[in-house]
Parts: sequence; structure tokens; C-alpha cells
Amino acid sequence: MGFQKDFLWGSATAAYQVEGGWNQDGKGVSIWDTYSKIPGTTYNGTNGDIAADHYNRYKEDVKTMGEMGLKAYRFSIAWTRILPNGRGDINYKGIEFYNNLINELLKYNIEPIITLYHWDLPQNLQDKYGGWESREIIKDFKKYAEICFENFGDRVKYWIVINEPNVFVGLGYDIALHPPGVKDKKRSLEVGHITAVANAEVIHSFRKMVPDGKIGSSIAYGPAYSASDSEEDKLALKNYYDHAVWWWFDPYFKGEYPQEALKYNIEKYGAPTILDEDIELMKSAKSDFIGINYYCTQMIADNKEGIGYNGMNNDGKKGSQKENGVPGLFKQIRNTKLEYTDWDWAIDPDGLRYGMVQLKKRYNLPILISENGLGAVDPIDENGEIKDIARIDYLREHIKACKKAIDEGIELWGYCTWSYIDLLSWLNGYKKQYGFVYVDRNNNLTRRKKASYFWYKKVIESNGEDLD
Ligand code: BG6
Repeated sequence: MGFQKDFLWGSATAAYQVEGGWNQDGKGVSIWDTYSKIPGTTYNGTNGDIAADHYNRYKEDVKTMGEMGLKAYRFSIAWTRILPNGRGDINYKGIEFYNNLINELLKYNIEPIITLYHWDLPQNLQDKYGGWESREIIKDFKKYAEICFENFGDRVKYWIVINEPNVFVGLGYDIALHPPGVKDKKRSLEVGHITAVANAEVIHSFRKMVPDGKIGSSIAYGPAYSASDSEEDKLALKNYYDHAVWWWFDPYFKGEYPQEALKYNIEKYGAPTILDEDIELMKSAKSDFIGINYYCTQMIADNKEGIGYNGMNNDGKKGSQKENGVPGLFKQIRNTKLEYTDWDWAIDPDGLRYGMVQLKKRYNLPILISENGLGAVDPIDENGEIKDIARIDYLREHIKACKKAIDEGIELWGYCTWSYIDLLSWLNGYKKQYGFVYVDRNNNLTRRKKASYFWYKKVIESNGEDLD
């Protein structure tokens, strides 16, 4: 048992967070280019205009990936580099950039894993018809995906259609923290459904255009426990899974919605609007794998008192996170048995194993961990070395949990850490670091390998045996 011989030891990034070059070589404007410049929307007004300047330094970055022995690199394509207006004319400079990146990766035997949508929607489509709120986007997204399949599908085998629909829809339409900054549950439910239909359409195109490829989407996964054995807390846990977990996995991986939650949402909000042909389409669009982004678990309790959304810890002041919940359904409370990060995310390696066991029971599909990692302010010693021991400890324990899961029968294809290099955290700026490679923002974005870089190199070399 243990990790298969061709296990994808990977690491990930996303275009807006790493590339920079926001208006270079014909790239169009995305909703994040616009939103991050509205005062008060991001941590200290940070944005991805320059990010880690990976757009201009990709060769240097891929070289260090190669030296590390990385087997897979997950990155996203900026829709606005390929189609500056989201539709219409192709920007061939954008195609050229991703071709160069892919070829560079292949030169070092690194398997590219492409994410088609990691939240940077073309602003033009937002302005024209409200972006994901309109079914018009299905056609445009499909066309964009087909251009990518046509141009990169000969060399790229692994594809992720949409990254964390639950996060960008929740933050964009329930609590107004991401663009377009809306707080409206009905609209949020409609948008969520449209993403699931778009996902299905893209999978159908993929089957025709990249017949030997593998495709799935990535969901942010927070497995959970009940705060107590009381009937109230157990019901709250069921509500959490139905409304916040299976609500997202089911339409993407089973082509349907959890029935009780669907009834509740239709009665309460009159949404989502599901056309008969949607279900047929979603059911027939089979994913090859489930992508999960795993960082932490949740502790769930009854919420009769009606706690709603109370804010997030976005500055790394440990303990500042307040309780959040959905009135009448559930609330998330602190798990006293677990350690927390400075951003108040529970550290729970066994939650990853447990979560994968739950997914296997429900969907019986292979799994690709498309993100896992520790966000922290890394220590730099007097010699300028970054000994990010906390990150090594975090990753080690999660990799051990993967090994256990494999021994319990989980078909795990790969493990991508978040992130390869320090990059922009959407709401936490550059302060919250995740990478193996440090980017000196005071010194021309010079790269420096951290202790975790050398540690992961050994992990890869030993195929997950040497974790010390
Ligand atoms: C996931 C996203 O939600 O988590 C990434 O796919 C993101 O884009 C990562 O950066 C970590 O979240 P955060 O908020 O700590 O940057």
C-alpha cells in the first residue's frame, strides 16, 4: 500500500494571486482587477497587479520546481489573457504565455494541472449580463474552455473546471466579501446552480476534445463534527452537511441536490431555478475525480439563537474569529481539542482522512487534493533563512493522513500543496504566506527557498516515505 508509483506530488497557485502583469500583452480586465482597487475591499488595499510577477519570471519559477523534483504543478488560466473581453477575439499572446509555461513544465517532467476558473471573471461579462448570474455565461465559459482544450489539450492531461464554487459564490453573493459584493441568498442560490450547469457543459466538451484526459472540479471541503451528542447538535451537523457541504458536491458529482435542503431553499427563497434539462445534463457529465481543497474541519452546534455572519479573521490576530452561523440551521464554534493557526483555522490532519472516507462512501470517485497548506507569517532568521518549521509540521501530518486514507482504500491520485510560492491571499494580502519559496517584496521580488522547499524535495524523492 502507500503512495502509488506515479503519485502526483504537486503544488498549486492561481493566476490572479501569482502572475501579476495585470494589463500586459493584451490581457483584459477581470473582476478582481477592478474590485481590489475599491477602497476597503482587501487587506491594506493589496492587489494582484504585480503579485509574484510569475508572468515575467515563470522560467525561473519552473526551474526551481524542477530542481525540487515536483511531479505536478497546478495553475489557473486567466480567462482575460485568452479572451480579454471574455468572449470574441482571442489574444494570441495569452495563448503563447500558457504554451510556454506548459512546455517549460514538461521540459522538467512536471505534469501540468490546469484550473480553468479560479475566480478572475472577465469584467466585461460582469458588466454585460451580471456574470455568473446569467445563463449567458454558460455559453461563454464553454467557448473559453474549448479554446483552452484546443490549444493545450494535446499536452495537458489533468483539468479542473472550477475552483471552489462554494467559496466564490458564498463570499461574492452571501456576505459581500468578494466581487460582485452582493448579500442576497436567492441570487447566491441561482449563481451556484449556474456554475454547476456550466461545469457539466464543459465536461461534455472535454470528452469530445480531450478524450484521454481527466477532469473534475475542486470544492473547498470542511468536514465537520457535532459539538455534542445532543439531538439538537446532531441535527445541526446534518444541516451543515446538507446546506454547506453536499449542497456543493452533489450537483457537481451526482448531478442532483440534497433533497431536504433543496425543498428548504425553494420554499424559503424560491431558488435555485432548475430546468428539467439541467439535471439530465448534470447527471450525464461524469467527473473523473473529485478535487478537494482542504485546510481545516468545523465544529458544529445548534443555532436556535440565530447567530449569522459575524466577520472573519483576516489579519492573523489569533482568537479574533467570532462565531458564524446560519440562523436556525447551524453555527460553527471553536473545537477545544484542536490547535488553531493565527488566522483561526483548525489544524486537523485526521479530518482530511475522515473527509476522504466520507467522500468515497458518497461518490466512490478517485480524489485529487488540489490544495492543502498552512498560512502563516514565516520567521526569517538573522542570516535571512526562512525556517518555516510550522509549515513542515503541518504538511507532514497531512501527508501521513493521506497515507492512512490510502491504506483504508481511498484512491488518491495526488496531493498539491498550497502554494508553491508566496503569493497574494485574496483577503489577507501578502502577509499570509503559504509557499515553499519566499518572495522578497522589498528587494525586487527576489526568490528564496525556504526550509519546507528542501523538506518537500525529500518527500517527493522518497515517494512519501521520508517525512522527517
Ligand atoms: C482557497 C483558494 O480558498 O484557499 C486559494 O482556492 C486561497 O485561492 C487559499 O488562497 C487560501 O485561502 P486564504 O484566504 O488563506 O488565502
